[in-house]
Amino acid sequence: MKLTILLGSLRKGSFNAAIARALPGLAPSGVSFETLVPVNQLPFYDADIQAGGFPEAVTSLGRAIKVADGIVIVTPEYNYSVPGGLKNAIDWLSRLPDKPFAGKPVLIQTASTSLLGGARAQYHLRQTMVFLDAAVMNLPEVMVAQAQHKIDPATGELTDAPTREIIAKQLQNFVVFVRKFQAGAKLQA
Ligand code: FNR
Repeated sequence: MKLTILLGSLRKGSFNAAIARALPGLAPSGVSFETLVPVNQLPFYDADIQAGGFPEAVTSLGRAIKVADGIVIVTPEYNYSVPGGLKNAIDWLSRLPDKPFAGKPVLIQTASTSLLGGARAQYHLRQTMVFLDAAVMNLPEVMVAQAQHKIDPATGELTDAPTREIIAKQLQNFVVFVRKFQAGAKLQA
């Protein structure tokens, strides 16, 4: 199963990037991961640009999402919401005629330095994903609070055992979720 990661932070020392790096080591066997181009590769959404043709960065991102078995969005919370760069990427992707997120299994993980672990961004993202008709898995939720204490500053490795455990459990559930979804799609075909 091929899962594709969309990362909401551009920061070199990003805690969310550290979470994303830990995923292959926490996933069940047979799951591979690919990380998509950083969201700053896309221009700001502009309907006039779209009218002249979608930028290549947008269409290639859309293709990568279309072929993935599932998408894992790993993102910080900015001002109680989704970071602008990630929202911009989602806005572009929502305009593609083949709707890459429609019916796509999506998993959300947030990490922040606060006590809520990005919960508010996570719920804004879920709301946005309704309009894109994505199949977002509900539970378990992964909201990594005080991420600065859970990642080794020397190695950038996610070391916190309970966080590793909940992410492993979430990934296990997601694999089952994706399989069920794919089986359902085959029955419909
Ligand atoms: C933040 N941060 C933050 N944290 C949070 O829990 N809720 C919030 O609303 C915000 N708002 C916010 C806005 C902006 C512009 C920045 C730069 C930061 C703090 C945030 O959790 C922290 O910077 C994380 O380290 C960002 O994630 P990465 O870059 O480490 O993955």
